[in-house]
Amino acid sequence: MPARINPSILSADFVNFERDFGSIAGADLIHVDVMDNNFVPNLTFGLPMVTRMQQISPKPLDVHLMIANVDRWAKGYAEIGAYSVTFHAEAAQDPVRVARELRSIGARAGVAIKPGTDVEPFLEILHEFDQLLVMTVEPGFGGQSLIESTLAKVTKARRKIDQERLDVWLQVDGGIDESNIERVAELGADTFVAGSAVFRAQDRDAQIKHLRELAESGISHRH
Ligand code: DX5
Ligand code: ZN
Repeated sequence: MPARINPSILSADFVNFERDFGSIAGADLIHVDVMDNNFVPNLTFGLPMVTRMQQISPKPLDVHLMIANVDRWAKGYAEIGAYSVTFHAEAAQDPVRVARELRSIGARAGVAIKPGTDVEPFLEILHEFDQLLVMTVEPGFGGQSLIESTLAKVTKARRKIDQERLDVWLQVDGGIDESNIERVAELGADTFVAGSAVFRAQDRDAQIKHLRELAESGISHRH
């Protein structure tokens, strides 16, 4: 099973996105962290800038919304053509309704859960989504260390996806690097966000390839 490596442009140069997109040509998707200084204590960019990224990106965008009131705002990102739009369950009044709306516009619909949010309620409705994002750090900032206790949710979600043969990508985001990606893949993740681990590398494409090889080795060792 292939592993997807999605570099997070939170670690990119914010006045040189086009150049930095070129340095990660080997990425599967480009992970775009939208923050509103409300749902999380940090601010990045919103719809006008993501619209422009969508126009220049050589790869499909994997938009991660860390914003409040997604019932109102999520669909705009699907309307500009983003390939995948993931919103936080904690910020949605009706996650299933939001996901259906995203899918009806033509985007993949993802639901994200913070480290303190239980995965169980989402396992029963997983077929409503194309991606489950298990946050492995508290959302808001790059460069943090992975929180080990979040990984039990990856194991549970993988079991459910395999049991029911669901077509759902299982994504992890936060603190993923060459020291842990193989183990996290073995536990069940198949889609990996990596910000600092990619952008700090001299040769970012070589690092993406290295991370993908480690992840695929982990996947091949699943029991
Ligand atoms: C954090 C963001 C992540 C972040 C990951 O809230 O959602 O996408 O950029 O950065 P690293 O890989 O450095 O932890
Ligand atoms: Zn993210």
